Amino acid sequence: MIKKKSVEEVLEIAKVEEVVQDFVQLKRRGANLIGLCPFHGEKTPSFNVSPSKGIYKCFGCGKAGDSVNFVMEHENLTFPEAVRYLAKKYGVTLEETELSQEARAEQQYLDSLYIVNQYALDFYQDQLFNTDIGKSVGLNYFRERGFREEAIRKFGLGFAPDKPDAFALKATHIGHNPDLLKKVGLMSQYGRDFFRNRVMFPIHNLSGKVIGFGGRILVKDVKAPKYINTPETEIYTKSKVLYGAYFAKRAIRQEDECILVEGYTDVISLHQAGLENVVASSGTSLTAGQIQLIRRNTENIKILYDGDMAGIKAALRGMGMVLEQGLNVRIVVLPEGEDPDSYLKQVGVEAFKTYITQEAKDLVMFQAGMLQEEASGDPIRKANLIKEIVDSIAKIPDPIKRSLYIRECARIMDVEEQLLVNEANKLVAQHFRKQQQEKERDQLRQFEAEQEAIPVQPARPVLKPKEDALSSGDSFQEKDIVRIIVAGGASLFDPEEKLTVAQYLISNIEDVLDEFDNKLYLRIVRDTRERLLSGQVADTSYFINHSDRDIRETAIGMVASPYEYSENWEKRWEIFLTTQKMPDENFVRDSTQALKRFKLRKFDKKIRQNAEKIKTLFEQKSDDYLLYLKLDQKLKAVRNQLAEELGTVVL
Ligand code: UTP
Ligand code: MN
Repeated sequence: MIKKKSVEEVLEIAKVEEVVQDFVQLKRRGANLIGLCPFHGEKTPSFNVSPSKGIYKCFGCGKAGDSVNFVMEHENLTFPEAVRYLAKKYGVTLEETELSQEARAEQQYLDSLYIVNQYALDFYQDQLFNTDIGKSVGLNYFRERGFREEAIRKFGLGFAPDKPDAFALKATHIGHNPDLLKKVGLMSQYGRDFFRNRVMFPIHNLSGKVIGFGGRILVKDVKAPKYINTPETEIYTKSKVLYGAYFAKRAIRQEDECILVEGYTDVISLHQAGLENVVASSGTSLTAGQIQLIRRNTENIKILYDGDMAGIKAALRGMGMVLEQGLNVRIVVLPEGEDPDSYLKQVGVEAFKTYITQEAKDLVMFQAGMLQEEASGDPIRKANLIKEIVDSIAKIPDPIKRSLYIRECARIMDVEEQLLVNEANKLVAQHFRKQQQEKERDQLRQFEAEQEAIPVQPARPVLKPKEDALSSGDSFQEKDIVRIIVAGGASLFDPEEKLTVAQYLISNIEDVLDEFDNKLYLRIVRDTRERLLSGQVADTSYFINHSDRDIRETAIGMVASPYEYSENWEKRWEIFLTTQKMPDENFVRDSTQALKRFKLRKFDKKIRQNAEKIKTLFEQKSDDYLLYLKLDQKLKAVRNQLAEELGTVVL
């Protein structure tokens, strides 16, 4: 392990601004430097470097740290790797502590697995370039496919001869431990080679170490699979690997886009044609681990599919995860029967580039268009389709993006925008509520874990959910008002006068705005008031997509509803659903009631304050108290009237 002292020395010498400057263009701004964040796509700089503090921070994506963190993040390195990288660059000699026996053994063991794999790569490459059979069969095959030597060498392609144990024999002969050959999946239990008579595609991890192989068959044999891949090993977990990522990562960052293809050969073809920001999922659908890998370098993915619609549909099903991660996904469908490699060869680089630029369709739009076609003329299918699309849209974390999508999709699917808005809002709310619950559960779990860890401490108070807005003063009534404004404020209170529920409520509470107990609710009311005054609509969508995060989240929490559809849905769209119906939301009735409850509370408060005043004046022997006594009667009369209307008991 690197000694702490050495790490500190590296941090001392490798100034964060210099380290960052190697990768990011920085401009001075006051005491700090700013530039475009290398960790997320942006057009205006929000990436800050503070030389005095020795740290960087992006105000866009939140990434922050010191020079070592920067190198880790930017170059996809582990902590010791990053420290070593900087030490080398700045000429610091590192002192290392003795590893524990076990840790060192583990480290050496893993290293030896990489070494065996690297040896295998060298072996297969030697077979390819330096044996007759390798040249005539393997190299010839690659050449026929149009792979140039430069690419072949860069990707470490090779050839596994058609012998039962050529590799195993050679490897053990020069001293590689047979157990290790088995551990990396290159040799069977019985000492036979795993890869035989195949051309070889080594798979690298992000730091360029060989972790496994794919081998392509050379004969047309229906019984054997076209490709076989290294089985899962201690260093190769298929779901966390993207083929080509090591060679692509720099270009992905530069282009701020990752092109995703299916096959090994697609990656190599595109790469040698100059499109280097390409990785392959190796024939599987994207996994969460793979998305993470992409996300570290860019938020933009372009997925190239061959023109098989069934395949595309299956692939799209797994895309919710990608949207949830906030990635921008675009889809390019290649002409029927072509994959990126074959199509590139057919039309040439320039036409290929044009095609994938022009044909790229946004994932959600693409889905909408495809399903639209499928369901045309079938209202039940259409209902499901809308649900599916809205499901996708609701997963997008950015509210602005969401509303753009909704507008576009409404157009494509020829439904009213408001319908999609309502449905999306509900899902967003549900999603939000689920997250909240998870957060609370996490807190509880953490609390319990802490309790267990320190059993001798005096008992701590039981964890309560975070002090909610409603627990203080009149907040409950205030919340009610706000809830109605958020959920139904845009509906008409009086159709004849064109008065909306929000206008009705707000105009009725203007006199007591100063007495709001809850500052956030007050902010929402004021915000609504201003919006209405400026002649704009303040509907649910406005609040749910509000630029103020607190308002947005409060609104989302308020419209969260266990009901899926409203009755209107059926009436308006002639779509009949079997799911539970939403009770008819009567915002007019609700708002009158809520307003009364709200006013009642405010009057109670005024009466209390007035009583205090009377008491004080009386004690001061001032006759003014009589005035306040009169006021008391007036206030009580109004309060009692309200209470009566509400049917509550007058105290
Ligand atoms: P494809 O069948 O599309 O092959 O599989 P390809 O990449 O175009 O290969 P060529 O052009 O015929 O040589 C796409 C990817 O799926 C995985 C491989 O990673 C392959 O590159 N695959 C495919 C397998 O793992 N096993 C198979 O049997 C087939
Ligand atoms: Mn192919």
